[in-house]
Amino acid sequence: MVGAYFSGRTCGLAAEPLAGTGARIIRLLLESGSVSEGLAGDISQWAVRLSEINRERNGLVERMRIEHLDANLLLSRLAVEGRAGYVDIDPFGSPVRFLENGFRATERRGLLGVSATDLAALSGSSRRTAYWKYGLTLVKTNFYKETAIRALAGFAVMTASRLSLGAEPVLSIAYRHFVRVFLRVERGKRRAYHARSQVRYLIHCKYCLNTSVMSDVSEWREKCGICGNPNTLIGPVWTGLLHDKGLVERILNSRHASDPTYSEAIKIVKTVAEEVDDIPWSFQLSEVSRRARTSPPKTKHVIERLKEVGYRASPTHYDPSAVKTDAPLDVLTKIVKELVRS
Ligand SMILES: C[S@@+](CC[C@H](N)C(=O)[O-])C[C@H]1O[C@@H](n2cnc3c(N)ncnc32)[C@H](O)[C@@H]1O
Ligand SMILES: [Zn+2]
Repeated sequence: MVGAYFSGRTCGLAAEPLAGTGARIIRLLLESGSVSEGLAGDISQWAVRLSEINRERNGLVERMRIEHLDANLLLSRLAVEGRAGYVDIDPFGSPVRFLENGFRATERRGLLGVSATDLAALSGSSRRTAYWKYGLTLVKTNFYKETAIRALAGFAVMTASRLSLGAEPVLSIAYRHFVRVFLRVERGKRRAYHARSQVRYLIHCKYCLNTSVMSDVSEWREKCGICGNPNTLIGPVWTGLLHDKGLVERILNSRHASDPTYSEAIKIVKTVAEEVDDIPWSFQLSEVSRRARTSPPKTKHVIERLKEVGYRASPTHYDPSAVKTDAPLDVLTKIVKELVRS
């Protein structure tokens, strides 16, 4: 990922302020082809000791610095003394308290990778935590993994925009127990505004699954326009593109694509390449079928049929039984019923 992002130029310094054993920085130095220097920090003296042993074993004493320091102190120091081309924030739980300094420590046109494992908050299961920790109004939907990705991406974009930085996702993944978003970081008020204006609210009806993006508060409706049941508000979340498809292509064309070590990651990136990522939700076919009082057809067949009748449709990388489409809900429901009947 980092190699593909910086292809044609060098990343220079890659910094991981919550590095654990230092494995990630070591792999970046050995495998990315674009990182010349690494910085691994950790608050735990045991983690630092392991990083030192791993650095020695991999012959990287000259290229890798290790600091026994709090992540925010390390990032603030980098922001003042010299920023990194790539900053990786990988805590246990929520990255919230490291994000602002993470952006301050990232070079312009650089890359920031952030992961979160507090999926209960980000996906809308723990609504109170989402509210006090992220300032977000979330509810659990049948596309909760997409919500988690977009909640983290939106929070990161808003954090960057407060610093007059325009951050936009270039690759966004939900996998097992975590979500991970990579963001391109650019300087300037115009870019900050452009990115921030794509962090919006969704209106969602949990009864019929009807969902839309709200461009302005005047668009809020108490009742669903399709079934008349109460709507719920979700957000603000990132509603723009989740992936830079050019970057995704470079990853798939890289020498790592055929390396068995990366096979699981490449499988995900292949689905990402197909994803209709300008629609900030998806439909779980079991839920659409349940409402249509029928059994769920195969995801692949639904996508084929939607495309045949002129809509955009794709699978998602996070749920094999979900479909992303711009087709109206009644069209999707009709197709589901027809496919099961035939
Ligand atoms: C999820 S682990 C990192 C794993 C690592 N990225 C990897 O891929 O192997 C989180 C690490 O953050 C460290 N940590 C927790 N709080 C910290 C803080 N305030 N400053 C620096 N490191 C911290 C922990 O000691 C732990 O090693
Ligand atoms: Zn409805």
